[in-house]
Amino acid sequence: MRNAPIGVMDSGVGGLTVVAEVWRQLPREQVLFYGDSLRCPYGDRDPQDIASYTFRALDFLSDQGVKMLVIACNTATAICLEEARARYSIPVLGVIGPGARAAIAATSNRRIGVIGTHATVSSDSYAKALRQTHRGLSIQSVACPSFVGLVESGRVDGDEASRTVADALAPFSGSGIDTLILGCTHYPLLAPMIATVLGPDVTLISSAEETARDVSLWLTEQHMSSMALCDPRHLFYTSGSAERFAVMGERWLGVPIDVSHHDVWKCSDEAL
Ligand code: DGL
Repeated sequence: MRNAPIGVMDSGVGGLTVVAEVWRQLPREQVLFYGDSLRCPYGDRDPQDIASYTFRALDFLSDQGVKMLVIACNTATAICLEEARARYSIPVLGVIGPGARAAIAATSNRRIGVIGTHATVSSDSYAKALRQTHRGLSIQSVACPSFVGLVESGRVDGDEASRTVADALAPFSGSGIDTLILGCTHYPLLAPMIATVLGPDVTLISSAEETARDVSLWLTEQHMSSMALCDPRHLFYTSGSAERFAVMGERWLGVPIDVSHHDVWKCSDEAL
């Protein structure tokens, strides 16, 4: 079991930001990834749909014999983490707790901004996680739904992206935040542009690094780290176009990846 893969899911390519950190911190671990690009974005959908898509994806990964599940999607974490922990016998990690922890460590003036999808912002999950550890925080949350489309289609630079990012972040002007949580795993792929708009006084927090640290901690504590000696063969599945996912994957991970098309809803259109 300790050499089994780690299952990672997202609504699309955003979860690759978490995979990159898992690879960096845990090079011996094999990753099995499911990206539900066909149904992306999750963030504009209602909670029941998000839950049913997420559980179908997690069931698929769990059926492949993974040793743990990582919900590399803030939207799915916000809606499903607690239920997922009760449903599976293997550990399930989300990205919101780790992101909140990293933001608290980074802020000096206790003014924290959060950006995420509509579903994540409406769930108030970041504010709850932040306030659980620290009471005296000023938190401003803004939904940036247009960012996911830019990332999924690879349009992360150029005038359109720059205008979209500047418009969406306008509510933070004059807010005095010194830390911004990128509360969607797609957003780190726009980080250079976000940093340009907010300037050098705002620290950007991606939960990827902290989430991979949680994975590492659990593996060590439970004596579940992989004993494999050679480079693991990572597998990526997408419900969308495998070719497109492979192009994006190589772009964001820096190496070619092995991608297969697989829709966990098996071509039935009940979930489209
Ligand atoms: N990557 C997902 C997240 O972290 C959301 C993107 C979507 O709306 O599907 O929230």
